[in-house]
Amino acid sequence: MLDRVIYSPRTKIPPRRPWGLIAALLASFLTVTAHASNPAILEGERFHPVQGSQGMVATSHTLASEVALQVLKNGGNAIDAAVTAGFALAVTQPRSGNIGGGGFLLYSPGDGNTPEAIDYRETAPAAATETLFQDNAGNVVNERSRFSHQAAGVPGTVAGLALALELHGTLTLKDALAPAIRLAQDGFAIPQRFTEGLEQARERLQRWPATKATFYKEDGSAPQPGEVFKQPELAATLQRIADRGIEGFYEGETARLIVDEMQRHDGLITLADLKNYQPAIRQPIHGTYRGFDIFSMSPPSSGGTHIVQILNILEGFPIGEMGHNSAATIHSMAEAMKLAYADRSEYLGDTDFVEVPLTGLTSKDYAAELRKTITPDKTRPAEEIKPGQPAAWESPETTHFSVVDRWGNAVSNTYTINFSYGSGITVAGAGFLLNNEMDDFSAKPGEPNAYGLIGGEANKIEPGKRMLSSMSPTIVRKDGRNYLVTGSPGGSRIITTTLQVVMNVIDHNMNIQTAVSAPRIHHQWWPDEIRIEQGISPDTIGLLQSKGHKVTPSNAMGAIQSIMIEGDGTLYGGADPRRSTSSAMGY
Ligand code: DON
Repeated sequence: MLDRVIYSPRTKIPPRRPWGLIAALLASFLTVTAHASNPAILEGERFHPVQGSQGMVATSHTLASEVALQVLKNGGNAIDAAVTAGFALAVTQPRSGNIGGGGFLLYSPGDGNTPEAIDYRETAPAAATETLFQDNAGNVVNERSRFSHQAAGVPGTVAGLALALELHGTLTLKDALAPAIRLAQDGFAIPQRFTEGLEQARERLQRWPATKATFYKEDGSAPQPGEVFKQPELAATLQRIADRGIEGFYEGETARLIVDEMQRHDGLITLADLKNYQPAIRQPIHGTYRGFDIFSMSPPSSGGTHIVQILNILEGFPIGEMGHNSAATIHSMAEAMKLAYADRSEYLGDTDFVEVPLTGLTSKDYAAELRKTITPDKTRPAEEIKPGQPAAWESPETTHFSVVDRWGNAVSNTYTINFSYGSGITVAGAGFLLNNEMDDFSAKPGEPNAYGLIGGEANKIEPGKRMLSSMSPTIVRKDGRNYLVTGSPGGSRIITTTLQVVMNVIDHNMNIQTAVSAPRIHHQWWPDEIRIEQGISPDTIGLLQSKGHKVTPSNAMGAIQSIMIEGDGTLYGGADPRRSTSSAMGY
């Protein structure tokens, strides 16, 4: 397996720690559970977070949290629990949990050793070309980049999760897959959100017979809340991985089913693409903010770079004194966000293919230059902002989960198939959905992707290249120790959502549940508007408008599943109430 891995830049692999099963026996088995759908419990004037002392899991699905917590209770570590949750979500939450997509896993050991990132982002198939999604006249054809077999990048999830386990886990791949196989085989009672998702996406999904047969009843209706939903083909696909390791996915029967699916519909993925897929071990982006260390995802994600860049700019403002979600704070944040997203459009791409000026983009000096362009009373229109010189469809969904074990090891993982249900295409006979991540490439310079993000040369399509992402699994350290584990779905809003939870904790001293629940804002340069969730006061909106901002109400943004570790070792979980199935569980 390790010979398939790209090390970029090369990192030393820390030795495995001798995790003791004996410790498991000593552990307390008191489980504290909170479901975001329950009424918030108020303590004083704050939301009360879930508490634990031995382990904590926060995911977007109760069943995934349950199986991952059980792994921790049995003596497994954070990687074991995270990989188990990743496979369980592929079964219980098919709109974003996946084996047909990709993502990023950030691991920060509890002993203070350097954090490491596993990049299992999808790659462009060998046959992909720069103009793949343009017609003969050079116009971008979104239907092809989003809803066709050509929209699929070579999936990375199975290789990435297996690599994490191999490097730092104690479970076998078979053990980590067992709960997922059981859930697929025996089925599970579906929550209302599962039904709603399938109903919203019905038209798009039922175009594909294998998707219809996998997720809907014979009469075409969606399974109803409380009904037991089984996925025998997916169970068999997962079993092949359990039996043969990653070759059970990238070669053999599953690979053949993927390639047959491609060949029936003009898709690009070949047996060679699958066999050649390699996850990469990356050095995370590192920055500091008011004395805290920030570790987040490096390219091919833009997330960590711009979280650090925006924090660097904002460090020059007394954000805590200016107040949470005051007009002055939102104005400073929006101006900083615009500058970062302008740089993103120009410079960010897969560092295996393009040079990205990461040192400049994340430097305090560059941030100080950018900060000078922000004035307190007036917004700068987006058209005045250019990249600097550093050295609609149903709601989309990705999913994030965070895990901390009793040794203080932390995992922050975000993975996706891009849209809810990805391309909507199920691999016939294999029971899983394919991603439509190729839309995250820049189909043509200056043309926005589905999230309105503009890209250029650095993010053009090239064979074997990883498409630029915004996914931002993030871990904050305080005095060298893991302190905050966080990350979110939300397309272009992932960066700003994650940023705000970090700021809510550091600048506004919120506990983790309050930090996760608080209303959020977003600006991404273009469109030139501040999007706001419910809960920003009319006075604040008025003040922002008087500074020249266009303020647009938005649906809920992101679903950030977070954990905070206090100095005494107490773990606090914050599940995002923006998803009814979110759940933090600790013990
Ligand atoms: O990698 C990215 O940035 C996107 N494909 C993520 C998509 C996403 O977060 C959708 N949902 N909420």
